Amino acid sequence: MKKESRLLHAGRHPERFDGAVNPPVYRASTILHPSVAEMEASGHKPFEGVRYGRFGTPTTFAFEEAMAELEGGGRAIATSSGLAAITGALTAFLKAGDHLLVSDTVYFPTRKFCDRVLAGFGVAVEYFDPLIGAGIKDLIRPETKVVFLESPGSLTFEIQDVPAIAEAAHAAGAVVLMDNTWGVLSFQPFEHGIDVSIQACTKYVVGHADAMLGAITVREDLWHHVKSSVATVGHSPGSEELYLGLRGLRTLSLRLARHAETAMALATWLEERDEVARVLYPPLPSDPGHALWKRDFSGACGLFGVVLKPAEKAAVDRMLDGYRHFKLGYSWGGFESLVIPTTGSIQRTASAWTPEGPSLRFHAGLDAAEDLLDDLKDGFQRLRGG
Ligand SMILES: Cc1ncc(COP(=O)(O)O)c(C=O)c1O
Repeated sequence: MKKESRLLHAGRHPERFDGAVNPPVYRASTILHPSVAEMEASGHKPFEGVRYGRFGTPTTFAFEEAMAELEGGGRAIATSSGLAAITGALTAFLKAGDHLLVSDTVYFPTRKFCDRVLAGFGVAVEYFDPLIGAGIKDLIRPETKVVFLESPGSLTFEIQDVPAIAEAAHAAGAVVLMDNTWGVLSFQPFEHGIDVSIQACTKYVVGHADAMLGAITVREDLWHHVKSSVATVGHSPGSEELYLGLRGLRTLSLRLARHAETAMALATWLEERDEVARVLYPPLPSDPGHALWKRDFSGACGLFGVVLKPAEKAAVDRMLDGYRHFKLGYSWGGFESLVIPTTGSIQRTASAWTPEGPSLRFHAGLDAAEDLLDDLKDGFQRLRGG
């Protein structure tokens, strides 16, 4: 069965819920036990069945089952946000004295967590060039426990050679974690050597900009360890959010196809504009990561970057302030089209980032491509002072 079809069924068990098509929203913290003996027995198997709200309800389990289907295997653990999935996964595998290798292009709050929290707790954090590929073997030390990837990179969209990095990491006994939010549905992490895949479900899985949610999907043999660690730090999502995640999954493939088609139309058009120095979108044949994207991904999404030719900040602000469709807002993956200026927000310590001019990140929403193109055209007029 094709993935699109499987996602319609994943995590749904109408026979358990009086035939209802969708699993109900369980609002539960306390779970009652019929006897002391059964209460004690459940304490020995805290992650089997329903024991306490934080460990999951049937709504949680339905979502986790569906997320494992989406990621192509393993077992999932729901979290309260994408960042909770990142921090929950990292803390599960690291302790004082360990060495962590992190791609230089990770989502900035991931970097902040590594530098402020993990480093503060005695983990040696080292960043590497996202284009390092198999060369990562030279950075691996006996105490390297985790290699953390994000591909394409946040804001700058470099594609990493994930299988080459994973092979070198595994040879040294390290686990490979990846923030796979951009590649949702189009990158199958376990087929490329990833041990732990992280999704900020807040983006495309929920898809409507109305809930915070995350998921960590792990190889089956790692599940108990990660589940126990995530439950220990208390990263549990709310029941309504889980339901919205389940609902979003049913239309994910349809929405993503449209987001990607529109993004490609905009990116192709933008590439030809005089005001633009570079478009950062791996599906474009001109993108430096295109060959790796084509090898490892089966599709794309609506998120891409643009580097403008040198321009005054005031002119760029005028362009952005006047958009009718592209609204100024963080996050992405919802139905709406968004833009953020990224100049000054891109931090590098292990690789070069040398933009020709101001940089931007666009999210192509579900608006008609023609409307978005008109918006961009009018914006360039404002940029030029018209
Ligand atoms: C690539 C990536 N990962 C993780 C996150 C964090 O997700 P959340 O906002 O759900 O914590 C974001 C949010 O923008 C993101 O862009």
